[in-house]
Amino acid sequence: MDIHQTNRVTGLFLPWPGHREGAEAAHQRLAALIRAQINSRRLRSGDRLPPSRILAEELGVSRWVVTEAYDQLRAEGYLTARVGSGTIVAPGPAAPEPAPSADLEPARARPPVRFDLSPALPDLGSFPRPLWRGALTRALAEVGDDELGHPDPLGAPALRRTVATYLRRVRAIDTDPDRVLITQGVGSAVNELCAHLRASGARRVVVEDPSWPRLREIVRRQGLDVVPVGVDDGGLLVDLLVAADHEAPVAAVFAMPTHQFPTGVPLSAGRRRALLDWAAQRDAWIVEDDYDAEFRYDRHPVGAMASLGPERVIYLGSVSKTLSPSLHLGWMVVPAMLRPALADRRAGMPLVPTLDQLALAELVASGAYDRHLRRMRRHYRRRREALLAALVHATPGRAAPSMDAGLHVLWHLPPDTNEEAVVAGCRRAGLAVLGLGPCRVRSGGPGLVLGCANLPEHRAGDVAGVLAGLLGALPPGPHGSARPAAGPASGE
Ligand SMILES: Cc1ncc(COP(=O)(O)O)c(C=O)c1O
Repeated sequence: MDIHQTNRVTGLFLPWPGHREGAEAAHQRLAALIRAQINSRRLRSGDRLPPSRILAEELGVSRWVVTEAYDQLRAEGYLTARVGSGTIVAPGPAAPEPAPSADLEPARARPPVRFDLSPALPDLGSFPRPLWRGALTRALAEVGDDELGHPDPLGAPALRRTVATYLRRVRAIDTDPDRVLITQGVGSAVNELCAHLRASGARRVVVEDPSWPRLREIVRRQGLDVVPVGVDDGGLLVDLLVAADHEAPVAAVFAMPTHQFPTGVPLSAGRRRALLDWAAQRDAWIVEDDYDAEFRYDRHPVGAMASLGPERVIYLGSVSKTLSPSLHLGWMVVPAMLRPALADRRAGMPLVPTLDQLALAELVASGAYDRHLRRMRRHYRRRREALLAALVHATPGRAAPSMDAGLHVLWHLPPDTNEEAVVAGCRRAGLAVLGLGPCRVRSGGPGLVLGCANLPEHRAGDVAGVLAGLLGALPPGPHGSARPAAGPASGE
């Protein structure tokens, strides 16, 4: 009977057929098996083979069988023996490299990114490595064995307590840990909320226009219709939202009242009240994305809507801009009425590793997170000012009037500029930038949403120079995504 064995010592899987009457000699079969593994690239150049004694024990053969097989493969050039390193797969292409997958090919073909100006990025070089290492070490020292099982679907209790205290202090949100759920970030929370709304019978939700492009994608993927509502200097046009709801019911509005993305304006006090009144009357939800509220440079932070209407507002935040999007770590504060239904949906969902949650709890509770934010506020303010100054100095167009806040600059291009050609030119020149077109549902003037956090001050001039060169060289072209106007142009 065939037996397939895994080498328990090295983790090497060899489909070894075991004893066979009258078949070729065992050492030849073993050599053929290892040769096939190398040719099919399951074993690759530099991989170490188990010592002959151990492999012999695992396979239930004599040690001689293994050493004969290894000798044979060494003679053929498949294996080499190094003193002190044992037997390893020899360098050199034993088989051709597999063709790159369709997903990888375009990425390879793209010119390298010199400056990543994606608006959602913090300064990746300023990730507080020693602070995070310290927090992780403390978390590891203190975590109980019982907490090292599967993560709590609602989030680690210690982090939920810390987030509740933190939000009460810095955003005046009066919540208790019970209403805090840990998420994989704002995008994942939106996904979860949309799935819940759809399952409860909702059909339509309002999304600010313009907004971050992935938001509309997530909403649509959950089977909900996006109702775009424009934004002006006072933020979301709440009157238009109320009118849209009269046409057909709207279950929720996804808004950024503190610092609208990408326009950079806060929602006015009057519209906040109107939005809360509408939500209360219509039994609808306001989903508040408080994504970069930490980075306000001129005066005190704009208050969170969740502090005004905790029964109607679902509040979302994450560490994607304060620490790193790679952590995939965020939170939502949910109204008491919604909490049981959302908590029930969580079983089986992708969760954040417990140790990362505990490290964040440590970082916040120790005050290190506050200190990091204070440092980054000064850092980002300088970077934002440097990019704005360089653009104003060298680049045709104008900055959108916005608060002195956040990690990006919205730069309106001259009206007859072909935005797509500028974005493509930037990519060729090694600048990753987001066009304003993809942020919009309705058409409007061309523009660029330029992240400034990941760009050192002394490089701002280079970026402005590339843009100026591109804009000087391009023939006039269509506006942005050039879709027909279906309502008031937004975000201008
Ligand atoms: C305004 C805004 N909110 C939320 C997100 C997503 O946040 P997270 O990384 O926490 O999923 C992004 C970026 O993708 C964004 O630009």
